[in-house]
Amino acid sequence: MPASTPPVGPAFTGWLPGVDSLCYGGDYNPEQWPEEVWEEDARLMREAGVNLVSIGIFSWALLEPREGEFDFTFLDRVIELLHANGIRVDLGTPTAAPPAWFYATYPEARVVTRDGVPLGPGSRGMVSPSSPEYRRASVRIATELAKRYGRHPALALWHVHNEYGAPVADDYSVHARRAWREWLQGRYGTLDALNAAWGTAFWGQVYGDWEHVQVPAASASAVNPAQRLDFARFTDSALLACFTAERDAIREHSDVPVTTNFMATECLSTDLFRWAREVDIVANDHYLTAADPRGEVGLALAADLTRSVAGGKPWLLLEHSTSAVNWQPRNVAKRPGEMARNSLSHLGRGADSIMFFQWRASRSGAEKFHSAMLPHAGTGSRVWREVVELGQHLGKLGELRGTRVRADVALLWDYESFWAQDLDWRPSEAVSHRERVNAFYDRLWRDGHTVDLARPEQDLSGYQLVVAPASYLLTADGAANLTRYVEGGGTLLVSYFSGIVDEHDAVHPGGFLAPLRDALGVTVEEFLPLRAGESLTVRYDGGRGRAGAELTGTVWADDLTLAGAQVVGTYADGPKPGGAAVTRHRHGTGTGWYVSTNFDVETLSALMADVYADAGLPSSGVPEDLEVIRRHGDDAEYVIAINHGEDAKLPLDGPATDLLTGDETSGGGMVVPAGAVRVLRRHG
Ligand code: GLA
Repeated sequence: MPASTPPVGPAFTGWLPGVDSLCYGGDYNPEQWPEEVWEEDARLMREAGVNLVSIGIFSWALLEPREGEFDFTFLDRVIELLHANGIRVDLGTPTAAPPAWFYATYPEARVVTRDGVPLGPGSRGMVSPSSPEYRRASVRIATELAKRYGRHPALALWHVHNEYGAPVADDYSVHARRAWREWLQGRYGTLDALNAAWGTAFWGQVYGDWEHVQVPAASASAVNPAQRLDFARFTDSALLACFTAERDAIREHSDVPVTTNFMATECLSTDLFRWAREVDIVANDHYLTAADPRGEVGLALAADLTRSVAGGKPWLLLEHSTSAVNWQPRNVAKRPGEMARNSLSHLGRGADSIMFFQWRASRSGAEKFHSAMLPHAGTGSRVWREVVELGQHLGKLGELRGTRVRADVALLWDYESFWAQDLDWRPSEAVSHRERVNAFYDRLWRDGHTVDLARPEQDLSGYQLVVAPASYLLTADGAANLTRYVEGGGTLLVSYFSGIVDEHDAVHPGGFLAPLRDALGVTVEEFLPLRAGESLTVRYDGGRGRAGAELTGTVWADDLTLAGAQVVGTYADGPKPGGAAVTRHRHGTGTGWYVSTNFDVETLSALMADVYADAGLPSSGVPEDLEVIRRHGDDAEYVIAINHGEDAKLPLDGPATDLLTGDETSGGGMVVPAGAVRVLRRHG
């Protein structure tokens, strides 16, 4: 591992004080209800097996009705009630929704969009992270809360803010401009260094005065991409500084672990590998994409990413939904059993907490059509019955807490690369980093492989296979690390439009893919993107002497220059008939694959079978719709099986106990009924 690579995940190794099991619960917003409802809430929470709720996340206006005047009556009562009922508290700092007085007093603290529009109040989450007034006010309310509740016996966790980076991250306000210049001075020291890094000789953009450097707001044409890439880094840093300021204020008065809820895979403005080092326990929120009938795959990717940024440590699912959300174009209700399947997939992928937005459905406001643990239809509803059943199931799974997931495959996920690739004026608008990540992840999911997400610079030596679906920006360190990985016996697969630019969005010396030339035995002479709707044919034989299969590619082709690689797929047509399309290269004791076109998830199957063979990854033997994940404890292995399809056979070698039913199985496998979940403890 390069010496400069920081460790992955939080330093904290503890757990939530006073919680001796998995966590179950959700966001609780009692301020939306008269006090007599709270007693019923507490009773029903006990009935459902709830042991943790997140409170106070949007309570700033109530807690500080006028600037500097605090009133904790409401929170005192709620915390005492929860405590009396044995329910632990995840206490929010309410800084994602400043009160009306804040906007009235500090109108310049509002976020300004790239087009120059200041975002008005009346919603939430629209304060400039660079505003000194916001920083002062948010640290003050966090401090007051920490002083008052920091040692309260009900307190199990601090929940700072809510989903940093959402609904907006970029801010082009006057505060941002000042902070941005300071950040640039810290990064580059001199304007000469900035001019060199940004390549300002192009289009005559050379700066001679720091005051002339602007935020990259909307302009007449494409704004300097290196400037925009740095602005993405600055935005991430500005948000992270808001978190660490509140966290440090809390730590002055409380030893309880501090977290903030991420939105892994959905909010790309925050580099969660960086953020995870700053929290005590990694926490995530996840909502299914209702338009996707196979939303469980996106869920799995989000959960695997969350575990990966946590460095493999257990993490908390702080929000998901019992049924439909309210903010997508068509909000599809979850089918019977789907909530349990979703919950068990998070659990299987390392979550030690299963929580929801929110406990009781709101009658008013923007989210009244969002599902809840206790829906508008009340306790006579299907959702409530499933909530109670899930609580009972989680109560039987306490021994999984703290156990770990192991992955043989790493898929590269690098925020900086995504920020750079998603800027203007790329060779084809059809090239999407998420599309390639999703396609390769989906293939691995269907083939039953458990996947970690990893940065190119981190230690990869423990993985049998590393897949790079979208490594447009690849640093020299990252490329050297990948090359060492192959040299040392690893199998690396790289997809097109990777290894193109360095950390300043400047093309690598030597041309496209040059930093991976040794590992892959090939470079790219010219990009050959396709027109909309065009496809091409690749004659593919996998290099194993088989008859060529015809595979259809779309979006992209390359004109490749071979540097030792074996050609295992050749373009039969398209922009370069006869040219190399897929290559395989032995380097050191490992193998580097390069794929220069876009194969869809079905087509990838043929290719990946050969890649798995090189990596020594056996077939899982599990039917495609049966999701199987394993968690490993000191003395036991747990198999979590989630059936998204028809009745399916789960292969099992040796006896096991079904933790949900208590049934013993003697080995040889078991049938998991359509839609069902199983959690098995394997013996010995
Ligand atoms: C986010 C927020 C919650 C709520 C849910 C609705 O995750 O954190 O406050 O708005 O979305 O899905």
